[in-house]
Amino acid sequence: MTKKPLIISTDPGIDDVAAIIIALFSDMLDVKLIAATWGNVPLEKTLTNTLKLEAFLNTNVPVVSGASCPLLRQQIDASDVHGKSGLGGYEFPEPDMSLLKTGIAADAIHEVVANSSEKVTLMQIGPATDFALYFRQYPEDLANIEQLVIMGGAIGRGNWSPYSEYNVAGDPEAAQIVFSSGLKILLAPLELGHQAFITPDTLKQIKTVNQTGEMLYQILTDLHDETEGDGREIYDALAAGMLIKPEMYTFKSAYVAVDTKSMYSYGASLIDFDDFYHQPANVEVGVKVDRQAFEDWFISAIKKAK
Ligand code: RIB
Ligand code: CA
Repeated sequence: MTKKPLIISTDPGIDDVAAIIIALFSDMLDVKLIAATWGNVPLEKTLTNTLKLEAFLNTNVPVVSGASCPLLRQQIDASDVHGKSGLGGYEFPEPDMSLLKTGIAADAIHEVVANSSEKVTLMQIGPATDFALYFRQYPEDLANIEQLVIMGGAIGRGNWSPYSEYNVAGDPEAAQIVFSSGLKILLAPLELGHQAFITPDTLKQIKTVNQTGEMLYQILTDLHDETEGDGREIYDALAAGMLIKPEMYTFKSAYVAVDTKSMYSYGASLIDFDDFYHQPANVEVGVKVDRQAFEDWFISAIKKAK
């Protein structure tokens, strides 16, 4: 079976680390490029974190620096959740600077897509800034994109404001550009993370799997989110799972748009399953995930690492 070429836009970020590990060691995916973007913490940290993670994993996927801020809105920050470093308190090795490509993300993404004999899959697990800029710069590339899987949005309550989720709220205008791109889009909203949280018992299992599992145990223990009681929500890993084991999920077609105009609901993801807006569906939304199947699969995915 040939591996799917994949480009990741990410803002590591503790749950980003879980998703990146899954992608890098999957026998179904061939990660061609990682674009680090501003997000959970500022760009200089997400970029360094990406290079540190690859040094830890001994992988050699090229990395490129993405945008340092949103297209229009004031930058936001999630260091209260991911720690000041963005990766909790874990001591990673020095960043592998040999992997850092010069230039900007849009050009690096274009170089991969334009030269790929196979359609390329995109995974967006941070704010949409870089893919939005890329789509605007190279619209002709869309014909060589297989699909885009996104962690973002909320069917109901948000985690940044009552109705907005962090990634979409981080750059609402960029998110709107991506959702209206016409690409095939799979969406992993907050609700999937709420369903498939990692229990304390599973965390203990992960700790003994291998060196990567031990590191994940440490940083996931440092993840301070609203569900500390019953487990750790690794939202970004739910997006990665869609590319590798889609049968774990139930999908529903929806028209998805982003509120870029209001004051109180600015950044809200409006996920319309019921044709309220009389617009054709543009996204397949993951509405349910089999929690046990996901947990078992997550452990097996970590076992593939070192
Ligand atoms: O709302 C969750 C998302 O915001 C995840 O991607 C997490 O890493 C943060 O970026
Ligand atoms: Ca993220």
